[in-house]
Amino acid sequence: MSHCNCCDCKNEHCECGCEGVSVMPRLNEPAPAFDAITTHGNLRLADFEGRWLILFSHPADFTPVCTTEFLAFAEIYPELQKRNVDLLGLSVDSVYSHIAWVRNIEEKTGAKIPFPIIADLNNDIASTYGMIMPGESSTETVRCVFFIDPKGILRAMLYYPLTTGRNMQEILRMIDALQTTDEHKVATPANWKPGDKVIVPAPKTQDSAETRMKEEYECVDWYLCKKSL
Ligand code: BEZ
Repeated sequence: MSHCNCCDCKNEHCECGCEGVSVMPRLNEPAPAFDAITTHGNLRLADFEGRWLILFSHPADFTPVCTTEFLAFAEIYPELQKRNVDLLGLSVDSVYSHIAWVRNIEEKTGAKIPFPIIADLNNDIASTYGMIMPGESSTETVRCVFFIDPKGILRAMLYYPLTTGRNMQEILRMIDALQTTDEHKVATPANWKPGDKVIVPAPKTQDSAETRMKEEYECVDWYLCKKSL
């Protein structure tokens, strides 16, 4: 089966769902390209090359949970910028609706929304990224977060239902974990946060398993060793 970018239910060679929903993108593969109309003008995925990109979708403008999320994304925006990360929102609303909503948020709360928002009126990007889950809603995007690295590779994704606002600390933690993995070639354990010990890659041969316990790591056993950075 080939991996189709857009749903074609009549094409037996495509592995995709029906009702306009394509399969989800895959980790460690190039993120699907896009050329989008946004509140900051036209933007393509290629425009973000050399920086990390967090692409997130929300169900609809002028809705309560989404408004709390936009305020929360605006709050962590400086932390993302420090980490070389750009932020890009998306929903299937029009660019006029996005502009009216961010102006309303600023008027009512004083908070400026500093990042662009894609107006994906035809669901083009929503379907290539698998953002629509008909079990949740056939017309709105669910709360997705895609972490795309400076080479355009999709490195992580989070999916939340319509009723659950996202955890910004987890989004920052994910970026910190991915960047730590890239820089130090290590993995990060459950509940890891910056400053905690990291996991040394497990030995892949019997010989290296033998020597691992003699190395200066903190080991539970040969396959689970941690070190400080
Ligand atoms: C909200 O943001 O509050 C929301 C949006 C769509 C469905 C449910 C809740």
